[in-house]
Amino acid sequence: MDNFIFQNPVKILFGRGQTSLISNEIPKNSKVLLTCGGGSIRKNGVYDEVVSAMKGIDLIEFWGIEPNPVYETLMKAVEMARAENVDYLLAVGGGSVVDGTKFISVAIPYKGDPWEIIQKKGEPAVAIPFGCVLTLPATGSEMNRGAVISRRETKEKLAFHNDFAFPKFSVLDPIHTFSLPPKQVANGIVDTFVHVTEQYLTFPVDAAIQDRFSESILCALIEEGPKTLANLTDYNSRANLVWSATMGLNGLIGCGVPQDWVTHQIGHELTAYFGLDHAQTLAVILPNLLWVQRDSKRGKLIQYARRVWNIPQENEDKMIETAIANTKSFFESLGLATHLSKLGAGEDISEIIVNRFQARKLLPMGESKNLTAERIREILKLSI
Ligand code: NZQ
Ligand code: ZN
Repeated sequence: MDNFIFQNPVKILFGRGQTSLISNEIPKNSKVLLTCGGGSIRKNGVYDEVVSAMKGIDLIEFWGIEPNPVYETLMKAVEMARAENVDYLLAVGGGSVVDGTKFISVAIPYKGDPWEIIQKKGEPAVAIPFGCVLTLPATGSEMNRGAVISRRETKEKLAFHNDFAFPKFSVLDPIHTFSLPPKQVANGIVDTFVHVTEQYLTFPVDAAIQDRFSESILCALIEEGPKTLANLTDYNSRANLVWSATMGLNGLIGCGVPQDWVTHQIGHELTAYFGLDHAQTLAVILPNLLWVQRDSKRGKLIQYARRVWNIPQENEDKMIETAIANTKSFFESLGLATHLSKLGAGEDISEIIVNRFQARKLLPMGESKNLTAERIREILKLSI
């Protein structure tokens, strides 16, 4: 196991009705900016619940943070918050609203052009604190220090990580997610699954706890995912999905282990280029990346085959092949496509993606630094 430093300061308020406690978490006399998406929280009652829990607190609202939150929109919220002297933010929505709020929080006090933070040309020195009421289990953003922001102008989608991006608290009430359409529930299952594989399907470093935790999340998703899709208001299966998503990307399973993240890096490019849902890009790329990388990931793929898919010990190549096929079938069983052409995005954009990675000096990529331009082309060719 590699050395690591682990600290996660996010307070989780999990379960039915926990929104009623949020005013205890926000300093008295704060001026709060509520940050929201396109309106789902008005329809499902979450907005009313939040506003009633915030009675007596000075509150203004910013609406319209879109899926794959866009810099240009977020800067409007930054201007509003600066003009109104906001000193606390409350994100109410899915991962996009939470990510967008993370950016707003560091951008408000930033002296230069806030896009520098995303480009890693500037480090925020202070931030406006924020909490979150999550309505979509998927990204883990509610308990991590990352955010992914898009810029329309340049068709870019880039991640930033910073300790300021940890929420002060997050409310995870599974009931808030009951109104999700099945497609978004399925997206959440796949996104969480791939967060785990990015940290688990690399090469062995004798990290028994991290491996067993990862496998437990993957098994829980395989068991609970179909259950929650079959009964969209079943509290227990949804609660398990919500907690899987949070545990999948709060830093715990990534402690002291090699990490990949190339499925996500390619996926972000596909979203920036074709506007595909984040999880949809992952469902297409992961099985092909595992196939192209099957030699360097061999030890972990065999372990994954045995422990997650219960594939009996036999010819190891066959075990790997079956485990990858099962992964693909699992994504398809949830209703996601595993080929770009099925999504109306069959155009070969390998060169564009490879050029971008080259310009950012990212190649070769992956935990073994063996994903060359050639291999990325191969993954994309298999994905069309
Ligand atoms: O905007 P509203 O009207 O709220 O509708 C949203 C949106 O259209 C809707 N929705 C959310 N909660 C709902 C609901 N509809 C009905 N009932 C509810 N309870 O769902 C749609 C998608 O929401 P979005 O927030 O975009 O989805 P998700 O949570 O999957 O977030 C995706 C974003 O997170 C980034 C992705 O790249 C993408 O930009 N990620 C962030 C990560 C992080 N911060 O660590 C890691 C992830 O890998 C990921 O990259
Ligand atoms: Zn993701």
